Amino acid sequence: MNKTFYITTPIYYVNDVPHIGHAYTTIAADVLARWKRLRGENVFYLTGTDEHGSKIVQAASDRGQTPQAYTDHVVGEFQRLWKRLNISNDDFIRTTSERHEKVVQAAFEKMRASGDIYMGTYEDWYCVPCETFWSESELAEGKCPDCARPVEKLKEDSYFFRLSKYERPLLEYYEKNPGFLAPSFRASEISNFVKSGLRDLSVSRVKVKWGVPIPSDSRHTIYVWFDALLNYISAPGYLSGNGVTGAPFETIWPADVHLVGKEIFRFHSVIWPAMLMSLGLPLPKQVFAHGWWTVEGDKMSKSKGNVVNPHRVADEYGVDPLRYFVLREVPFGGDGDFSQRALLGRYNAELANALGNLLNRTLNLVEKNNGSKVPGLALPPELLNQDRVRTVVQAVDSAMDRLAFHEALQNVIDLVNACNKYMDDQAPWKTAKTDLPAALRSLHEVLRVLKFVAVLLQPVMPSIALEMWKQLGETGDLPRAGAEILRTGAVSFQDGQTVQKGAPLFPRKDVNGGN
Ligand code: ME8
Ligand code: MG
Repeated sequence: MNKTFYITTPIYYVNDVPHIGHAYTTIAADVLARWKRLRGENVFYLTGTDEHGSKIVQAASDRGQTPQAYTDHVVGEFQRLWKRLNISNDDFIRTTSERHEKVVQAAFEKMRASGDIYMGTYEDWYCVPCETFWSESELAEGKCPDCARPVEKLKEDSYFFRLSKYERPLLEYYEKNPGFLAPSFRASEISNFVKSGLRDLSVSRVKVKWGVPIPSDSRHTIYVWFDALLNYISAPGYLSGNGVTGAPFETIWPADVHLVGKEIFRFHSVIWPAMLMSLGLPLPKQVFAHGWWTVEGDKMSKSKGNVVNPHRVADEYGVDPLRYFVLREVPFGGDGDFSQRALLGRYNAELANALGNLLNRTLNLVEKNNGSKVPGLALPPELLNQDRVRTVVQAVDSAMDRLAFHEALQNVIDLVNACNKYMDDQAPWKTAKTDLPAALRSLHEVLRVLKFVAVLLQPVMPSIALEMWKQLGETGDLPRAGAEILRTGAVSFQDGQTVQKGAPLFPRKDVNGGN
């Protein structure tokens, strides 16, 4: 059986409703999943929610709710957002689900039986909001080095995972697999951290009741990060054979890429691989850490009241322009700033003016000069021959494989710009009066580019691409017909196909945010 392309997002904490940061990772993973499907691959795209631990208990009690009722509510909000953003995940894993908890327990016992988990005493500083223990030396001026909030001293019986045992194996693995940690500029920080020495990791809590109990010692629950990381194998059916697709675990695992934010890169590139080594499982092919969004230059935070609600952005600009913007604006891997100005600028320049206008004026001219029929092509193509199609597909493939979404989109925009230039040079609105066949020929060329562009944009803007497709008079299934175009490099039309001019894809927005 063919190996499935397996991509994951972090599973998000349900201590609050989702914001633009969560949407970002989920959209990125969605675009890669959709591109791979378009390229004919079998894909398993997993996202979900991280629901255990004191942070969630706190959030629930702040709102006068039980953890179960509260998590159910917030999980609903995540699922509602993913539906609205057209996220095509194949599964959604909740850490409170029985199928997940059983795997966590089984994995824990397996590691205990092998001697990688042992009983000890734990004493260290603990940051509740981050669910993270810190040693004295890691604290920043006595506070949590991640969030700068106060930490508390915790001392209790605890099970430990022999992380120290994996120091050498991890370093060897990084060495032998240079693509494992990406982008490469973040990799050295990780290997330096491992080289500085790994301490065994406390993986159980007596104090925390809202968690997965250890089967053989139910006074303890399993540390929330230990529980959470296992989602990547519990969902596709590790030890249970219970994956939603019915495909054997071995055809899905290892993951091709775990997408994560840079702040949780260490958990995914140190603890998680060590856990997998302990379980005797292959490691994911890549862990990719993207950067962080600020908002109008500021760190996003509840106290600042500047948390961006993706629903509001979608209300204003539409779902697809939001999906486009977050991937286009910032090279994936780096940090970026979410500002109204940048959003409006991209929307008007690239979507409304370059793409939307091109489609609109082309369809107008076809309507006016050829009764809406797609003109036939008597001569070989001028602008988009099969070689050029192949070159663009290769460039986009390569960019997608490197998760360089902005670069993939740049290739599409370059094509749209070249097409706009061709249109201006050919000026079919003028030529039509003196040499109609020449005008129709150039319109045919532009229509072909637009059809190809609709296919290329499908993973990023699935609804807009479909609308383009329909306006071009296409009636076939876009993903299926698109996959064929990408595979063969042949872009053509049916005899007598008629375009169906519709509403503008991207109504222009003025600076005040109105239409
Ligand atoms: O860390 N910019 O969950 P979480 C970009 N449950 N991405 C952002 C962002 C921002 N400003 N804010 C959040 C957890 N993200 C754990 C993960 S995985 C086994 C457990 C995105 O709700 C980014 O992907 O804090 C980041 O890693 C994730 O949300 C953190 O989500
Ligand atoms: Mg976080």
